[in-house]
Formats: sequence, structure tokens, C-alpha cells
Amino acid sequence: MAKTSTYQSKIPDSKGFIHYSDEENQMWSELISQQIPMLEGKVCNEFIQALDVMNFPLDRNPQLHEVSRVLQKTTGWSVEPVAALIDFTSFYTLLANRKFPAATFIRRRNEMDYLQEPDIFHEIFGHTPLLTDPRFAKFTEAFGKAGLAANKQDHAILARLYWFTVEFGLIQTSQGLRSYGAGIVSSPGELSHALDSDIPMLKPFDPLEVLRTPYRIDIYQPLYFTIDSFDSLFELSDRDLISLIKEARRLDTHEPTYPVKNIA
Ligand SMILES: [Fe+2]
Repeated sequence: MAKTSTYQSKIPDSKGFIHYSDEENQMWSELISQQIPMLEGKVCNEFIQALDVMNFPLDRNPQLHEVSRVLQKTTGWSVEPVAALIDFTSFYTLLANRKFPAATFIRRRNEMDYLQEPDIFHEIFGHTPLLTDPRFAKFTEAFGKAGLAANKQDHAILARLYWFTVEFGLIQTSQGLRSYGAGIVSSPGELSHALDSDIPMLKPFDPLEVLRTPYRIDIYQPLYFTIDSFDSLFELSDRDLISLIKEARRLDTHEPTYPVKNIA
């Protein structure tokens, strides 16, 4: 949801097929081959199992209709191709209608480990597996609906809820701390930063605290919120998120825990 990008999304042809070059398919192949072995012990079981359900190709970029077919069968979601970056209203509208907006370009080789914009590897590998989980899917839909009901000036506050869960969420499990956020599971660098280092701060998930916490999109996260179960997100689907935003605004935004630049 950042404002500018040096990438352009690829446009599907009249049959909905997206054409990738050999180099672009090679990038997917390298990214997925590198990332899957790194997930062991770092990513929650729900994600690992969902990855099996998705059954992504290893040698080429997946086509969006292939991904949508699996999501439709499980939770009724689908994937919608979008420009590299879209505005909040389009983003919330798609989520509220159980359509996951996916940028379709793939990163360049010199940004293998980290890029600010979401590419197809991040969108599909990172985001879509957990959309087969009914609790996670329901929360994401409720988030989109809250976005549509919120005033424009509250969009950036509500976006923090997505950032600290869907993008960069961690979960406490009986086997230890694991990740589920797409920004972590799709990034080799962030995965190590979040799970192997003692650099980031961890806080138990509290929606009001989350809504009061600013973030930066261009650095490894200095702070993560941890849930105990996806039930915490599911239960939030029935909460009045607009009132929570108002309360967060009344209590004000916390001081950032990082050098100030580009507060969201
Ligand atoms: Fe994302």
C-alpha cells in the first residue's frame, strides 16, 4: 500500500493467463526452493498444512486462476490481479468481497531477500495459504468490511491491524514461537530476523495496542505482536472495529520504537 513502485504488475491476457519470461519463472523457482526448507521450526503448522493444500508449482509462477480454484473450494475466496500498489478503498473493497488483491510482477534478482513492494511471491506464497483457514479468512474479510465503514482519516490506523497480524504476525504454539504473517514467511531475511535473533521486541496481541502502534515498511520490524491461536483473530471479526479505532485515536499513537521516517 505504499505510494510509489519501480515495478509494474503484469496484465492477464483475454483468457486470464499471465505470461512470465523464463527468468521470471526461474525467480519463482529459486524463491520457493529457498524458502520451503527454511520454514521448518519457524512457521506455524497451520501455514505448513495450508501450503500442502495450495500445492504451488516449483518450476514456474502459479497462475491466479489455479490459486483461486483452491481458495474457492475451501473458504470461497479468490485472487484478483491488481496494480503493484493500490489505494486503501480498492484494497478494503476487495477484501470485504473475499477477493485477495495480488500484484503479479516478480522481484528482480538484486532484491531477492527483501523488497518493499509486494510481488507475486509475497502475495501468493505468503498470503494465500492461510486464506484456506476459515478463521483467518473470516478475520481478513471483517477487516475489509471495517475498512469500508471507517472514515478515510482512520484508514492508516486500521491498516496497523493488518500489518501486525496478516503481514507480520507471530503465534505462540506448544512447540514455541512461530510466524504466520506473509511478510515474514515470504522473506528469508525477515524470517531469521523475527525467529532467530533476539533483536525484535515481542508483545502479546492486543487489538487496541496494535491500533496505537506505528510501523515502518522499509526495515525489518523492530516489534511483533504474538497471538496464542487463530481464534483470537476470528473473535475479532465480531468486534466493533470502528469503536476500537476511535478509542485508539483518543488514547493516541505510541511513540515509535525506531528512527522516525515514513510513519504509517
Ligand atoms: Fe502483503
